[in-house]
Amino acid sequence: MTTQANPTFPSTKPKILVARAIFPEALAKLEESFEVCSNQSDKILTPEELQKALSEVEGALVAGSERIDASALSQATNLKVIANISVGYNNFDVPAMTAAGVMATNTPDILTDTTADFGFALLMATARRITESEHWVRGGKWDQWSIVNNPLGMDLHHSTVGIIGMGRIGQGIAKRGLGFGMKVIYHNRSHLSDADEQACGATYVSKEELLRTADHVVLVLPYTTQNHHTIGAPEIALMKPTATLINIARGGIVDDGALAQALQEGKIFAAGLDVFEGEPQVHPELLKCRNIVLAPHIASATEKTRRAMVDLAIENLFAALADKRPPSLINAEVFST
Ligand code: DGY
Repeated sequence: MTTQANPTFPSTKPKILVARAIFPEALAKLEESFEVCSNQSDKILTPEELQKALSEVEGALVAGSERIDASALSQATNLKVIANISVGYNNFDVPAMTAAGVMATNTPDILTDTTADFGFALLMATARRITESEHWVRGGKWDQWSIVNNPLGMDLHHSTVGIIGMGRIGQGIAKRGLGFGMKVIYHNRSHLSDADEQACGATYVSKEELLRTADHVVLVLPYTTQNHHTIGAPEIALMKPTATLINIARGGIVDDGALAQALQEGKIFAAGLDVFEGEPQVHPELLKCRNIVLAPHIASATEKTRRAMVDLAIENLFAALADKRPPSLINAEVFST
């Protein structure tokens, strides 16, 4: 890691940690106001390195790769804020952060449309076997156009999409589905308001009904211990053999081993995964499946959106270190105390 402190004239600027590589312009902006300890190598810090780095700073920018818990915070006596460059914050132990008086922030809203676009792209690629077809062409297997002996997929238009997790991104997927004439059903911790249901053309159903009736199941729920393996062998057994399963939520929401087995046995038609249990490792049996589209956790990865995520995280950090309420504060009780 590099720091920008002047060794001859010790800086009086607050010290911050930038735990992952960010855009150079963003780093330069931070260096105007802070003494920055930055990890532009992008090599993920070990828990020991993270604990030590946090013990020396007042604020930190992190991503999902940094687990922020009581141990990481145990020596962080001056730390006021940790800004996640991510909307999901399952890497945060929020009660531990609150107990330590550390503000937790994330990056909601600005990535909603980009992530919903990607979810829909993954759904289309999966249902229409696009990557499998590309491998087929590249492998020299396409010798003639055929009515039946070409990769035949499943329709999206006028099918039923079932969305589990109907927050902002889930609603974005639903609205895209409407454009394809899809029937939209959803399952969520709570019902949407009538107005939001209407805007998405979505109908609330039980999880079981959704799994039994959807042609395409899209997972967009946050990861919590209660959501661990929301989709495992028993849930897959409820799905239609012609159905697809799309996970743009988090690894651990799907039992990847059970999914691989179901794909290999043709229990469902296909899956599209952007997130994996234990990523960046991918379950070896998933890698053997023909009927799967794999992506490396890139749902929010457009240049514009990643810049906006970094900028919002920086805005959160600046606000917290100026004793102002950060725009996307998760644990409000820390600010009011
Ligand atoms: C998010 O913002 O939660 C994305 O999944 C990146 O981690």
